Amino acid sequence: MVKSIGIKKIKTAIFISGRGSNFLNLMKFSQKKMSPIEIICVISNNSKSKGLYYAKEFKIKKKIFDFNGTNISDQRILLFLKKNQIKLICLAGFMKILTKNFIQKFNGKIINIHPSLLPKYKGLNTHQRAIDNKERFSGCTVHFVNSSLDSGKIILQKRIKISKNDNSFSLAKKILKKEHILYPQAIKKLFSSL
Ligand code: GRF
Repeated sequence: MVKSIGIKKIKTAIFISGRGSNFLNLMKFSQKKMSPIEIICVISNNSKSKGLYYAKEFKIKKKIFDFNGTNISDQRILLFLKKNQIKLICLAGFMKILTKNFIQKFNGKIINIHPSLLPKYKGLNTHQRAIDNKERFSGCTVHFVNSSLDSGKIILQKRIKISKNDNSFSLAKKILKKEHILYPQAIKKLFSSL
């Protein structure tokens, strides 16, 4: 593996469920010379995910799986990933919980972005909860995925100030901007020693 000239980039799959702004952002990042990753495919549990349109734009594979938590479902997804030699999975607004079995098979190779300063505010509705608790700061976190929700080892975080006028929408918007900076940074950090 060669660091920045990217002779051999890490084959990556992105998992999404919706809008896909982080997917688009990672797609653009992956096309830079210094990026350690190459995005091979986007996978979703939801055929109506808006983000799936970007697959066409960037001419990468897209695939829908139902992620129903059964062994058969896991095997189908794992087989697809194996066939495509995927070595890293980036969750980006992916709303399904992966099974323990799936996470074990891909141990240490699944990362996620979460819109809070973990370990605070795991799960959903993070912005409103931070505002309701009168937090002065919020932010976003990129972390490894393990079998407890939003609890894996933290790779990188970015903090922002919550202003008095912020509501959950304005805060989400501010944090999303930071997410788009953080996710590529975290990936670079992860592979900087290679
Ligand atoms: C982001 O805020 C991400 O942190 C969270 O879900 C949102 C997905 O947004 N997990 P997008 O689909 O990447 O635009």
